[in-house]
Amino acid sequence: MAPRRIILDCDPGVDDALAMLLAFAAPEAVKVEAITTVIGNVMLPQTTANALRILDLAGRTEIPVHAGCPRPIMAPIERKKSVHGGDGLGDIGLPAPTGRAEAEHAVDAIIRLVRENPGEITLCPIGPMTNVAMALIKAPDIAPLIPEIVFMGGAAFRPGNSTPAAEFNFMIDPHAAQVMLTAGVTLTMFGLDVTAQALITPDWMADVEAAGGPITRAAIAMLRAYGHGDPCLHDPCVIAHFIDPSLFQGVDAWVEVETTSPLARGQSIAAVAERHRAGRAPNAHVITGLDTARLFALLREKLLSLD
Ligand code: RIB
Ligand code: CA
Repeated sequence: MAPRRIILDCDPGVDDALAMLLAFAAPEAVKVEAITTVIGNVMLPQTTANALRILDLAGRTEIPVHAGCPRPIMAPIERKKSVHGGDGLGDIGLPAPTGRAEAEHAVDAIIRLVRENPGEITLCPIGPMTNVAMALIKAPDIAPLIPEIVFMGGAAFRPGNSTPAAEFNFMIDPHAAQVMLTAGVTLTMFGLDVTAQALITPDWMADVEAAGGPITRAAIAMLRAYGHGDPCLHDPCVIAHFIDPSLFQGVDAWVEVETTSPLARGQSIAAVAERHRAGRAPNAHVITGLDTARLFALLREKLLSLD
């Protein structure tokens, strides 16, 4: 079976970095056509630099990086403190990037690549969905050309992590999430329901670090710095899904996001029961189950294969 061709839209971010490394270690399952960056864990210039730094680390500088939106749709924000450290990659001292982002904006790159490859390009937003939403707004014709959007965001049946109600990616740009959720594209949602089960343990980190080479050691160093704040491997779940879908189980639901309430901004509401959906067909497959041991075994195997 041919590898899944994806655009990875991200806000590196330590777990974004691990998602990138996992994708690079699984060419049989995933081909990263482009990386697009967005404001999220840190400000856009830093998420873009961080994507380039991870490409340097992995020796994959041929993959194009396109910088995207520097703010959510409705209002600018300032990102100060992050569980990802001051530089967004755990402040482990990764060198400055050797490469530069492409001149083409991320939104235009998404539109172009989808139009050039109808039915072929899966979008994988693992940060706030601003770039994806802006692409769908600017070029509505691309929606039927996108086979699937597989995203990290939301919390369908459990509290948020950023606020009691909202997961971070949906909280930063709830309007973008709503545009994506209602675009009519096939959606697979990796929300906190499943990603919060991907808990990083000190023993696993020590074992992998001892067995690995420089790339693995850098990845574990980033995870050690990040783990104190949010020891979950959120974003790599999206990539693991392409490598071994049997790791996960889910349910179909109608999912929408709260965009107006100051208290519940970014909350994702999932309706599974017919009565709750009130005649609306499901718009997303919400992942809820994970074989955690097999996920971390896969991540160990793939990280070690990079060195
Ligand atoms: O809530 C977790 C998500 O928010 C992850 O994608 C993390 O990188 C941040 O973007
Ligand atoms: Ca992210």
